[in-house]
Amino acid sequence: MRSSFSSVPTLKHLEVSSRKVFLRVDVNVPIDPETMNVIDDRRIRMHSSTVKQLIDAGAALAIASHQGRPGEAGFTTMEKHAELLSKYVGVEVKFVDDVCGPAAREAIKSLKPGEALMLNNLRLFSEEVIEATPEKQASTYLVQRLAPLFEAYVNDAFATAHRSQPSIVGFPLVLPSAAGPLMERELLNLDKLMTQGLSPRVFVFGGARVYDLVKVVENLVAKALADRILTTGLLANLVLLAKGVNIGLENLKYLEERGMLTLVPRIRHLLMRGAPIETPIDFKVLSNGGVREEALGRTYGRIMDIGPSTIDMYREFMRESKAIVMKGPAGVIEDSRFRDGTVRLINEALSTKAHVIIAGGHLSQFISEEKAAAGNIHVTTGANALLLALSGEALPGVEVLKLSARMFLGW
Ligand code: 3PG
Repeated sequence: MRSSFSSVPTLKHLEVSSRKVFLRVDVNVPIDPETMNVIDDRRIRMHSSTVKQLIDAGAALAIASHQGRPGEAGFTTMEKHAELLSKYVGVEVKFVDDVCGPAAREAIKSLKPGEALMLNNLRLFSEEVIEATPEKQASTYLVQRLAPLFEAYVNDAFATAHRSQPSIVGFPLVLPSAAGPLMERELLNLDKLMTQGLSPRVFVFGGARVYDLVKVVENLVAKALADRILTTGLLANLVLLAKGVNIGLENLKYLEERGMLTLVPRIRHLLMRGAPIETPIDFKVLSNGGVREEALGRTYGRIMDIGPSTIDMYREFMRESKAIVMKGPAGVIEDSRFRDGTVRLINEALSTKAHVIIAGGHLSQFISEEKAAAGNIHVTTGANALLLALSGEALPGVEVLKLSARMFLGW
């Protein structure tokens, strides 16, 4: 079957030697709110090989990313990111404390082939947080000020490919553009899952971001893309409520206080249409400060993890599958007493012959570099982008690269 990404240009289609190149990466990483240090630098390490490849090819490289969101914890400068990139690339990546003002433009103008600099957080510039069409974004101040200084644009930021923001969709309309190697690997992985007949497909969902997950589940069900959806965590509690199962007063109150009960009718609607959604049959609960195992329907304590019978049941579903996509922890993993469900589900998935996709930092922290290098596993850098794409939504950052190839590469 023809790949759905074969019309995305990659570095082999783009001349970068002795050219000024704007490289969009996503090194948006968890930041310690006390020290403002980077807690997990995996994304920075993943992009470092792209930076090295472009420098070695003789590009004069300006690297840009966002970090956090304005007004939220973790919104900070890119100084530490530049330091870490320098360390992993083995070449100085100079930090420029500016986005598109005179300091940034002067630094870009004086870049030589084989040199690299990192601009400050793109979201310091207000236009970057506005979503609009590529045409609109191409005419923003940000793109208009920077693009004339460059001869090529490379997007390696798969994790931001679902955003229609200036640095993602504006540049490809005004510069010859390509996907970077990390973006390319992510798209190949997506393609493998979507077009190579990898079915049955099993999705294992957990964690606390239930609003996003319910939307993804709705899309998966509407497009018949999932053979099984194995739920854990708060999502499982909501599905159990939608089925009319008693989850205990404490768990009900927890969902109610967070306004999450509004999701129950949507889930009930899915179940009524025959959605293949599975729920746990036992739990590890916290009760009077102690840990207990409780069966479904007789749950009194606060649900903190799935129980052993649920793990056994989910293992059987995973064994029958050709592809397993996992997102979100099965329990409250911050507390080591409730990590078992998550770790065991990951290990069960990896012991199958299925292609396993691990999405999000909560799960990837349990995967060693050695395991991640194995043939049947892909640890994505962009959980949200991946889930949106898997649920059938187009990624603006990818679509615009195809358009750019038609405009500049004559495809
Ligand atoms: C992510 O971590 O999902 C990406 O960096 C995108 O970040 P955003 O959700 O703040 O746009």
